[in-house]
Parts: sequence; C-alpha cells; structure tokens
Amino acid sequence: MDEKRASGRYYTRGNPFQLKPFQTWAEASHLEQKVALEPFAGAKDIPQLINSANLQCRDWAFFDIKPAAGGIVQRDTLADFPIGFDVCITNPPWLARNSATRRGLPFPEATRYDDLYKYALEQCLTHCGWVAAIIPEAFIRSGLFLERLSDFVSLVPQTQGATGQKNKTIDTSYMFEDTEHPVGLALFAPQTTSDVKIWRNNRFLGGLNELRRYLPRPSANRSIVFNDPNGNLGLIAIDNTVSASIRFCPPAELGDYPIRVHCRSITKIGVPWRVDIDLLNARLATIREKTHDVFLTAFKGIRRDGCYRRRLDWALTRAIVDTKHPQPEMNLE
Ligand SMILES: C[S@@+](CC[C@H](N)C(=O)[O-])C[C@H]1O[C@@H](n2cnc3c(N)ncnc32)[C@H](O)[C@@H]1O
Repeated sequence: MDEKRASGRYYTRGNPFQLKPFQTWAEASHLEQKVALEPFAGAKDIPQLINSANLQCRDWAFFDIKPAAGGIVQRDTLADFPIGFDVCITNPPWLARNSATRRGLPFPEATRYDDLYKYALEQCLTHCGWVAAIIPEAFIRSGLFLERLSDFVSLVPQTQGATGQKNKTIDTSYMFEDTEHPVGLALFAPQTTSDVKIWRNNRFLGGLNELRRYLPRPSANRSIVFNDPNGNLGLIAIDNTVSASIRFCPPAELGDYPIRVHCRSITKIGVPWRVDIDLLNARLATIREKTHDVFLTAFKGIRRDGCYRRRLDWALTRAIVDTKHPQPEMNLE
C-alpha cells in the first residue's frame, strides 16, 4: 500500500468525461484532431473512459514512471515532462507532503507545494495549452492556477432518494479504487478565463466569483478563541452521515466533551459578547445554500442525502461569528 502511495497510484474510476462540461471542453480544444498526452498513464484507464464517453482524439502519447500496461513510455515525467503536446488529459499522482513525511516516503525536493498533484498540475499547465485533470476536490479551495481554469466539477457519486424511503445509493463507484477521497475534474484553457464555472456533476452551480460573494467578510478578530473549555458557544463543525448537520449550539450541549487543542470537529468557542446562536445558524445555513458548500472542505464519505460530508474551518467560522467587526472582503487564500 505504501509503495502505491509513494507514487500516488490511485487509478481513475467512474466516468467524468461523459459530463457536459468535459464534452464542451473537448469540443473547444478540438480534441478529435489532437494527439492527447497522458503523462501519468498508469494502466491506461483514461483513454478507455474517453472512448466510452463517445469521444476520440487523433492519437495518444502515454508516459509513466511505472507503466502498468503496454505502449507506455517509461519516464519520470515530473523531472522530464514530455513536450510538444497541446492537450493533456490525466489523473496525476497525489500525495500530501505531511503524509509522505509521516510515512517516511520520498517527496520531490523541487516543489514548495503541499501535495504532489499540485506540482504535477503545474508541469502539465506549463507545457500544455488544454489540460483536463482529475484531482482532489479540495483543489478549488487552494486558489491555485485559477487564471486558466475554465471549469471545476465536483464529482459526486450518483444517489437516488425517494421521499419516505431511506435514500439508496445506486452508484457508489468512487473515482479512486482504493479511497473514497472527494475528487473533482479541473478543466483548463490556453488563455485566461474570466471566471471559473463550478459544477456538481452535470449541475451548474455558478461562477466562482459569484459564489464568493455569499461569503461573509473575513475576520482577524483573535478575541474569538477556539477550543476554549469555558467558551460561550459550541460548534459541531462536521456533517454527520445523514445530512448537512454542522451547527452552532449552547456549550452545555457538548457537556464534558473534552476540548482538545488540535480538535477540528467539535469545539467550544470563547466569544467576548453574548452570542445569538439562532442567528449564527441562520447565517451558516444561508452561506451553505448559496455557495453550495463549494468553500467547505469535503472529506471521505457521502451523506445519506447524496452529498459529500463537509467541515467548517476556523477561518470561515470566525467570519460567521464575528458579526460585530466585519473586515474587508474575504479571500480564502
Ligand atoms: C493516480 S495514478 C493515475 C493513473 C492513470 N492516470 C489513471 O487515471 O488511471 C498516478 C500515476 O502517476 C504515476 N507517477 C507517479 N509519479 C510519477 C512520475 N514522477 N513520473 C511519471 N509517472 C508518475 C504512477 O505510477 C501512477 O501510475
């Protein structure tokens, strides 16, 4: 498993190339006339998916450090990226730097990024005009490479719900064979884009700039203290497995729950004024509804209502709680 993790080998599953935004991108890039580059080809799953989405390219060029199928050139493409390709479709290796350190795995010296996929993506964008990449869903919160990003699709396994019935998952084909990691499809163009279109599968959610407008102004108010055992505000910062359940609550509801310094899921917050819990929950609900949770970190596991479970981070929490001291426009970076 660690060997697999070291080279970021999680193969693509599911078919995001059938989705509208990819189909539009394929047309705009004149995919059918191009030789498409797959610089991290693995077992060559991507061309099969492209075929079964009824798309074609003129030809493919495959590279991988450890080819898992025939017809792939063995090459360390992170160190020596193939040049001369206008279109790149890939699922790059991903490995968090801290995970590599913890496991004693090598991590390229050449990069300042916290995850290998960001470095891989930078290489693709430097050398290719049109880039389609399956990457962690958290990418959209990183603020990286936005200039040429035209679309970002949060890929959520399809579920079917019926009123009065327990929701039933009909397709649990997660994008990666070995993990349930939330993933997205990023589509880049050669030129600067005016805004990033955000999608959940085939559903258009809005432009990134438009969605950002629903975020509260950021707060640098350090008098709001997290993980304060005597705090006057409780927060359950992670959705349960059923629905969008993140909420503020009276601290008493958390009882003697041990407040740990590094805990990011349940906390007591010290706020130096009387808090209106209903108001804060209403603010949170509006933000979630209007932004479709695009700015909340998704993590492993689909809720029973078919959406990813989400976490509310401290920066956004502080901005919601700080009703008294609004600051300039929020920038998530
Ligand atoms: C996430 S897998 C994706 C495989 C394939 N793109 C797919 O979607 O099925 C990442 C691939 O990157 C390859 N890889 C990792 N580091 C590499 C490097 N430095 N140069 C070339 N390939 C690399 C791994 O061997 C693995 O096959």
